[in-house]
Amino acid sequence: MEREVLKEKILRLKEEKDVLILAHFYANSEVQDIADKVGDSFKLAKDAQNADNKIICFCGVNFMGESAKLLNPDKKILIPDIESGCAMADMVNLDDLDGIKERYDDVAIVSYINTKADVKSKSDVCVTSSNAMKIVSGLPNKNIYFLPDRNLGRYIADKLQDKNFIFHEGYCKYHNFVDYEEVKALKEKYAYDVLVHPECTSEVVSLGDCVGSTKALLDYVEKTKKAGYIVCTEEGILHQMNKVSPKSEFIIPTSMKACEDMKKNSLENLYKVLVDEGPEIVLDEAIMERASQPLKKMMEMS
Ligand code: 13P
Ligand code: SF4
Repeated sequence: MEREVLKEKILRLKEEKDVLILAHFYANSEVQDIADKVGDSFKLAKDAQNADNKIICFCGVNFMGESAKLLNPDKKILIPDIESGCAMADMVNLDDLDGIKERYDDVAIVSYINTKADVKSKSDVCVTSSNAMKIVSGLPNKNIYFLPDRNLGRYIADKLQDKNFIFHEGYCKYHNFVDYEEVKALKEKYAYDVLVHPECTSEVVSLGDCVGSTKALLDYVEKTKKAGYIVCTEEGILHQMNKVSPKSEFIIPTSMKACEDMKKNSLENLYKVLVDEGPEIVLDEAIMERASQPLKKMMEMS
């Protein structure tokens, strides 16, 4: 089908069926462009929570669709490709959480939003990279079991010295492998500011002129509009960075690979999911009740 015709069909179905289309910054550009809202994982979770449309279609990865369902359980949540997972979320086994509460006194289980619903159901609070510092510092607990991202966990632990962190050793299979030497060499060659997502290692973070969530990095570009940037996060964000600062040059290190699961969102499967009204996120009722609590707590504390 011709591109423009496909876009028109998506827009028509969206109106007819009262669908809110949400897209993460890492989705393909044409998916970002057709979405009602584009954002980081926190902003999109909030948009999903506040949506009054009949249906929400989440163009991201599975944990994002699940979080939308947990925050707005009466809505039908569609996802263009039900196989779009997150390698980091897949690194947690439920039994990783066994015995944590018994082993440590006064411990809070803090789950990055990049976790599956069953893991959230055993957590005290969720965080995203945009609010982790604020939320963890606001917790009364001395001990923090932080999962799964060891890199984000260590980034905030460095700044919250009064807490005792216990880390799960999960990581993003893309951000974790951004190469320090490559970024350092790029910084020396171009003298551009380095933008780093905290899912990168602490070595790479140490090179960052701005470290933060996808939205924080985008806001930095919009505010500073410099000649160029070295961008240590997934390439999908460049679509919005180019819009807010079209004259800047953006360089992604070759060691920063694209997230294959985010790229499973296409106009083709977006159209199909709207026609079929499926695949849909379906969660076990008992898990939903418990898993929504840490997400709601995150919303209250943000
Ligand atoms: P953000 O919350 O910064 O959008 O990050 C989501 C993510 O999965 C990064 O890999
Ligand atoms: Fe998960 Fe990494 Fe992809 Fe983000 S970039 S969705 S953390 S695999």
